[in-house]
Amino acid sequence: MSSLLILGAKSDIARAVAQQYAANGYDLLLAGRTINELDDFAKDLTIRNEIKVFLHEFDANDFDSHAAFINQLPQLPDGVITAIGYLGEQTQAEQDWTECEKIMNQNLLGNVSVLNIIANLFVQRQSGFIVGISSVAGDRGRQKNYLYGAAKAGFTTYLSGLRNRLYKKNVHVLTVKPGFVNTQMTTDMDLPTKLTAEPEQVAKDIYKAQQNNKNTLYTKGIWAWIMLIIRLIPEWQFKKMDL
Ligand SMILES: NC(=O)c1ccc[n+]([C@@H]2O[C@H](COP(=O)([O-])OP(=O)(O)OC[C@H]3O[C@@H](n4cnc5c(N)ncnc54)[C@H](OP(=O)(O)O)[C@@H]3O)[C@@H](O)[C@H]2O)c1
Repeated sequence: MSSLLILGAKSDIARAVAQQYAANGYDLLLAGRTINELDDFAKDLTIRNEIKVFLHEFDANDFDSHAAFINQLPQLPDGVITAIGYLGEQTQAEQDWTECEKIMNQNLLGNVSVLNIIANLFVQRQSGFIVGISSVAGDRGRQKNYLYGAAKAGFTTYLSGLRNRLYKKNVHVLTVKPGFVNTQMTTDMDLPTKLTAEPEQVAKDIYKAQQNNKNTLYTKGIWAWIMLIIRLIPEWQFKKMDL
C-alpha cells in the first residue's frame, strides 16, 4: 500500500487532494495545526476507501520541531505534498514586520525546513515524490501582492533546485502553480469564474501530474498562457501598470 504525507492538511486544496489519493488506495498521514479538527474527515476517508489515516500535529513555523515530527511518523511515506501557505495582508505587511515575517515563514521557510529533512530521507531510500504548492504569484512581482509573491517565487526556485538535485536519486519533485482557487484563502475576493478552479479540480490535476512525473503544473491550465504573457511584458511598461 502506498502512503502520502499531507502538510497543511486542513487546507481546502489539501482535503481535496486527500480524497483523491484515498480514492486511489493511498494511506494518508494528515499533518497540520489543531489537526484533531479533521477527526470526522479522517474517519470518513477510512471507511469509504478502506485505507489507514493518521493525524499528526505540525506547525510549519516551529522549525526546531521538524526533525522530531518526521521521526515520530509511523512510516516514512512514499510521497509528501505541502499545501501550507498564507496570503496575508500586503499593505499591512509593508508597514509591519510581524505580518511580513509570517508571510515569508509560512510560504517559504517552514516548507523549506521540513522538506530539507524529508528530501534527505528520500535520497537515502532512493525513492519518493515531493509535491509543493507554490503559486502563479511567484512568476512576477506585482504591487498588490509582491510579499506573498516573493515568498512563493523563493519556494518555486527551491523546488526547481530540489528537483535538479534529486532527479538522479529516483525522487521526483512537482511544482504546482494554482491561479485562483475557490478556498478559504480567497473567500473575501471577487474571483472571475472562468479563471477560478474548484479544489477538487486542482486535486485531480495534481494527482495526474504527479503520477506522470510532470515537473510544473499550472492549474487551471490557462494560467500557463496568462503568466507567459505577463512575464513577457517589458519591465519599463510593467512598472507603470496596475495589475
Ligand atoms: N486559493 C488560491 O487561490 C491559491 C492560489 C495559489 C496558491 N495557493 C496555495 O495553495 C495552498 C493551499 O491553500 P488554500 O487555498 O487551500 O488555502 P487555505 O485553506 O487557507 O490553506 C492554507 C493552509 O496552510 C496552513 N498553514 C498556514 N500556516 C501554517 C503553519 N505555520 N503550520 C501548519 N500549517 C499552516 C493552514 O492551516 P490552519 O488551517 O491551521 O490555518 C491552512 O490549512 C497554499 O500554499 C496557497 O498559498 C492558493
